[in-house]
Amino acid sequence: MSPPRKLHIKSYGCQMNVYDAQRMVDTLAPEGFVETASAEDADLVILNTCHIREKASEKIYSELGRLRAMKEEAALGGREVTIAVAGCVAQAEGEEIIRRAPVVDIVVGPQSYHHLPQLLARARRDGRALETEFPVEDKFGFLPPPKPDAIRARGISAFVTVQEGCDKFCTFCVVPYTRGAEVSRPVAKIIDDVKRLVDNGVREIMLIGQNVNAYHGEGPDGRPWPLGRLLDRLAEIPGVLRLRYSTSHPLDVEDSLIESHRDNPALMPFVHLPVQSGSDRILAAMNRRHTAGEYLEVIERFRRVRQDIAFSSDFIVGFPGETAEDFAATLALVTQIGYAAAYSFKYSPRPGTPAADMRETVSQPEMDERLERLQQLIDSQQSAFNLAAIGTTVDVLFERPARKEGQIVGRTAYLQPAHVMASSDIVGKVLPVRVESLERYSLLGHLAARPPLAAYPHESRMITGA
Ligand code: SAH
Ligand code: SF4
Ligand code: F3S
Repeated sequence: MSPPRKLHIKSYGCQMNVYDAQRMVDTLAPEGFVETASAEDADLVILNTCHIREKASEKIYSELGRLRAMKEEAALGGREVTIAVAGCVAQAEGEEIIRRAPVVDIVVGPQSYHHLPQLLARARRDGRALETEFPVEDKFGFLPPPKPDAIRARGISAFVTVQEGCDKFCTFCVVPYTRGAEVSRPVAKIIDDVKRLVDNGVREIMLIGQNVNAYHGEGPDGRPWPLGRLLDRLAEIPGVLRLRYSTSHPLDVEDSLIESHRDNPALMPFVHLPVQSGSDRILAAMNRRHTAGEYLEVIERFRRVRQDIAFSSDFIVGFPGETAEDFAATLALVTQIGYAAAYSFKYSPRPGTPAADMRETVSQPEMDERLERLQQLIDSQQSAFNLAAIGTTVDVLFERPARKEGQIVGRTAYLQPAHVMASSDIVGKVLPVRVESLERYSLLGHLAARPPLAAYPHESRMITGA
């Protein structure tokens, strides 16, 4: 048998790229590839790229410069290194990558990476290989399942793609072009994936999709199931302790999802619901197809059924035409809602999107200033949210030993890291923690002496006074 070849993947961008990178490892395992943490000793390096903002996609070319030096050095030592570019930049700019970066052997889009073994062979034969046409078949039908030891190495919490692509066409966004049209995977396939993960130690499942709550995969009854129903079905699988989903669009929040938040004890009360702006004028120009008021109503529907629910969001500042009043409306919306966390970005024009043709009206210094103010507001909300945990008892799913000897780290329902001194056999369990202090973004505490009083995890998960 030939010695295993080494594979290194560097991922940029969203959670789906993290998931895709794992599936690329699974796809290449039968070819004799094992993963390595360092690019230097790899025989195959894959850059799994993100196109969402200019900064993200330009990074790739400097990274390729570094890889070129590495590849040349390896060649001097008689070792051949293959370089592949995958992900959304590959999809959007495949031809350009081939032109600009001779070091690249393979370019493969996010819907085609199940063909990596064939592309490796083609690159060996022809020198280079490019595949960015959306294939007619669904890659999920062809991806080999992860091996049990790979699942175990990846930890307690796992991503599962349930929906991919987007039909919303927000005017600033490349995703509908790089990931293609919205597609949902059938319920039965997702159940199989989740069972395999749980059988190998996974306890928390994060369902992911570019527009995950538009999920409408075929159910066992042959009819489309909404996300809420899928979540309820997955909660029945023994060993599934926690369920999450991301990213949601405010327009697609169906009643079944709200009901799942009310009734499904495994579904965590933390929802990422991007709004982008608080100004109706800007929301319309972005083609978000809802107003700030309608977004608030959606938030209210969640809050009515789960008082302890918390939200996170994404924001863009400096969209073309954004005035001081528009930006003030964003600050007002954030103040009104009170987020547990949020991400904010400066608008970045993306080639091929409708907004790229709009006249940019916000100067860089103005954008910087708005971003700074928004981030300060979000930070203060996040700090207040974290500080409120001190003195309470919260349920924590323990994930792994922490860096400090004897300490174990886990996460609360709101994804706050929580550290306790304990033995490592608590990994994979949900246990109550009395929170004593906050160190940056981490909660520090000790295992509470008694188990949560409530019989239902739903109640025990609520932050309790004492
Ligand atoms: N599907 C998700 C967003 C995916 S992209 C949704 O509908 O919200 C993640 C975030 O990147 C977006 O929410 C947006 O805030 C930001 N983003 C997307 N395109 C951008 C652009 N051209 N410039 C700046 N930020 C952008
Ligand atoms: Fe992009 Fe809008 Fe689709 Fe989100 S909903 S992926 S921001 S087009
Ligand atoms: Fe980036 Fe593509 Fe994800 S553009 S955010 S990697 S869908």
